[in-house]
Amino acid sequence: MDEKSWWKEKIACVLNDLSALNGQTIGLDDVVIEIPPKPEMGDFGFPMFTFAKKLKKAPQEIAALVAEKLKENREGSADDSSVFTLGPYVNIRLDRAKEAKRVVQGILDNGNEFFHIDSLQGKKIMVEFSSPNTNKPLHLGHLRNDVLGESISRILAACQAEVRKVCIINDRGIHICKSMLAYKEYGNGECPESTGIKSDHYVGGWYVRFNQMSKEDTGADERARELLLKWEAGDKETVDLWRKMNEWTVSGMKETYQRTGVSFDTYYFESDTYLRGKAEVLKGLEKGLFTKEADGSVQADLTAENLDKKVLLRKDGTSLYITQDFGTAILRHDDWPFDKLVYVVGSEQRYHFQVLFILLARMGFPWAKDLYHLSYGMVNLPEGKMKSREGTVVDADNLIDELRDMALVEIKSKEREEIVGDAAQTAEKIALGALHYYLLQVSPERDMLFNPKESLSFNGNTGPYLQYMGARISSILHKDEAKKLHDGLVKAELLQTDSEWELIKTIANYPSVLADAAKDMNPSVLASWLYELSKNFSRFYHECPVLSAETEDLQRARLALCRCVLAVLHAALDLVCIPFLESM
Ligand code: ARG
Repeated sequence: MDEKSWWKEKIACVLNDLSALNGQTIGLDDVVIEIPPKPEMGDFGFPMFTFAKKLKKAPQEIAALVAEKLKENREGSADDSSVFTLGPYVNIRLDRAKEAKRVVQGILDNGNEFFHIDSLQGKKIMVEFSSPNTNKPLHLGHLRNDVLGESISRILAACQAEVRKVCIINDRGIHICKSMLAYKEYGNGECPESTGIKSDHYVGGWYVRFNQMSKEDTGADERARELLLKWEAGDKETVDLWRKMNEWTVSGMKETYQRTGVSFDTYYFESDTYLRGKAEVLKGLEKGLFTKEADGSVQADLTAENLDKKVLLRKDGTSLYITQDFGTAILRHDDWPFDKLVYVVGSEQRYHFQVLFILLARMGFPWAKDLYHLSYGMVNLPEGKMKSREGTVVDADNLIDELRDMALVEIKSKEREEIVGDAAQTAEKIALGALHYYLLQVSPERDMLFNPKESLSFNGNTGPYLQYMGARISSILHKDEAKKLHDGLVKAELLQTDSEWELIKTIANYPSVLADAAKDMNPSVLASWLYELSKNFSRFYHECPVLSAETEDLQRARLALCRCVLAVLHAALDLVCIPFLESM
């Protein structure tokens, strides 16, 4: 157990001894930890205000009583310098030497196992993310979705959950038929290979073309609807065309996933799940859960839940977006009975998921209570930056290309091509680091602007800044190779200056930060911690010479600290999908 939790438990225990007098209990969660604003105020502070009512005593008085008890209980080891009161606060000052030894030696001996947390051991969590439609390529919104889903999955797995990453490809419906129609009428049998265009962009081009077409050609929409009916009827030519174009889109998207480090364990396709959804709706209708309206459509009445009526099947019997989601959820639970299914989907679909979850419960699926919509906000570019052909949507591939080119210019202008080795590959990794960090450092529910230039800055709260710390530490450790300092006995207790201490405390905090990020499914918690770690390392590096420290023992201890920072940095960067760089 880390020091923080140890003290928290002790304080809860002592408080309960006090409150037992009045026949009340105080839970662990009632005990709040604060970080004092100044180092001389110790390492943790515990405010006692909240207990005043229960204990019928002034907070100052409680603080004094608690401090006294703590000192008694710690059998001499808790002297005035480690437990003291500041008005209504009980403050704790840790033993720097002891904590440095525990953390540094712990990581040297056990590597990242030192941070082992298993808060989600035995839990099966399915995470759905990305989930594109097959009429156009991935855009900036998907990039936020993808990195959120991938990062959350990695964070949950790091807490020992069994995670399955899934994607639903919405591959049927009128929008798909629109790009099919434009291609059918004007495509002349061309294909992505013959034109040299990335296959998903190629299909997206035909969707744009349809929208232009339909402005002049009033019959275009009608012909697209006819195509949908043909598809639903299983017309061979239509189904073949549909299959060919969907393969183009999906294979192009998979290239983008590969590029950004996103992957899935299972892809679901709406064309495979929507009929199951339709069957469930009809079953529900039979059971009297839904009603058939005068116009022939099937609807669910949600007025008892303070919501509207919802159409589940159109009057012509065709399926809607929600119809397939019934089937998709049921098939997923059949495939892999989960303890929780998380849908990473934009906040504009909040109502959709609210209705979906209520109706699945109404249909009698007990696991409906385990469904969760992780809603995230919009992401836009600042006005005037990198707009795609249509002028509104920012294409994912183009954006990453642009970031990569900007990073490459930077590498060249700093004349670092030789040092980094493969400049193009390094630029690509910097681009992804910049993009992913920028998108994750904001809490999911908030809308945001993505500023490409700012994201790439090497100093500031950015991905490249974190990558740069990694490269810097790598180079220090590299220099050490000749000296082999790391072979001797490490006296971590020598690490006691303020900047060493702050760094050690930040490292020690990693498990609780990770657990919080997992509990709230919020990677921004981890992103902020990474920034703090890098800032604290930077400060340490300025104030404490490593390879030229006064004594060999101190050199060795500081090198060991560098190794610990690198180990934890490396692990945490991976959880937020930032590529690690040895040099940059
Ligand atoms: N393809 C949908 C869209 O682009 C998102 C799918 C979200 N997932 C779901 N199970 N409905 O809006």
